Amino acid sequence: MRHRIQFPPADVRELCQDEVYFYLNDGKSKEKIRLHDYDRIYSIPGLYEQVVYERLKCQSPKTVADVLRYSVDQSQQRISELRVLDLGAGNGMAGEELKKLGVSRLVGVDIIPEARAAADRDRAGTYDAYYVMDFSNLSYDERDELKSWSLDCLISVAALGFGDIPAQAFLQAFNMLSKEGWVAFNVKETFLDRSDDSGFSQLIRELIFSEYLDVYQLQRYRHRYSIEGEPLYYFALGGKKLGDVPDSLVESLDLSIE
Ligand SMILES: C[S@@+](CC[C@H](N)C(=O)[O-])C[C@H]1O[C@@H](n2cnc3c(N)ncnc32)[C@H](O)[C@@H]1O
Repeated sequence: MRHRIQFPPADVRELCQDEVYFYLNDGKSKEKIRLHDYDRIYSIPGLYEQVVYERLKCQSPKTVADVLRYSVDQSQQRISELRVLDLGAGNGMAGEELKKLGVSRLVGVDIIPEARAAADRDRAGTYDAYYVMDFSNLSYDERDELKSWSLDCLISVAALGFGDIPAQAFLQAFNMLSKEGWVAFNVKETFLDRSDDSGFSQLIRELIFSEYLDVYQLQRYRHRYSIEGEPLYYFALGGKKLGDVPDSLVESLDLSIE
């Protein structure tokens, strides 16, 4: 189904990336929806795809999946052996790309039930399991359940920072992988810039140059356009985990800085 979408006029567009909104017009009324109102967006079939992928031309799921493939291809391992955790899986756009790569197992996690419902509705059969969990606050039972999948690959697409998945939650997922597991994710380009002192960018820079991660591929690309039509550049990173990130590294960073 096609939706009638309208972006706000240019003079009110100077918003942070997590405050951006659009209008959905159903012919009778006009609803204002923030791009981060995922529960509302996922509940309307095709809306997320139309806004983010058709209008704003997001290319991150395919790019991050490709970066994972290039990385794994540089090793002796086969992508078909990987047991993947898709963190912040949403309605399954990234999961769909991984499924095409033919991974062995695919487990999705998202904090809101509407994401799982949308993935079941629109991409049935993509995930072997899809859990509604808050990675910032996992219970022992949830942790055990995830560990039972023996995950050896973490992918997170368009979900890190900006009020979505916080640094601590990302580390939980990283440390849950087996040693020599694979990671592939994307971050805004400023996260690699020393002038950005947010907790997340500190963590990403530490990780890239650390003994806990071997970077195989780092690619700058256009993640999507902003609603003003400006290109938003991100880095997609693929690499191999060398060991768990210890608490001491986490304590040396100020992860509270947004
Ligand atoms: C921009 S969407 C990306 C969805 C999907 N990866 C894609 O590429 O289309 C970010 C997702 O992260 C989820 N998220 C935010 N915080 C989370 C948390 N603490 N634990 C798990 N998922 C979270 C949101 O609910 C949302 O579905």
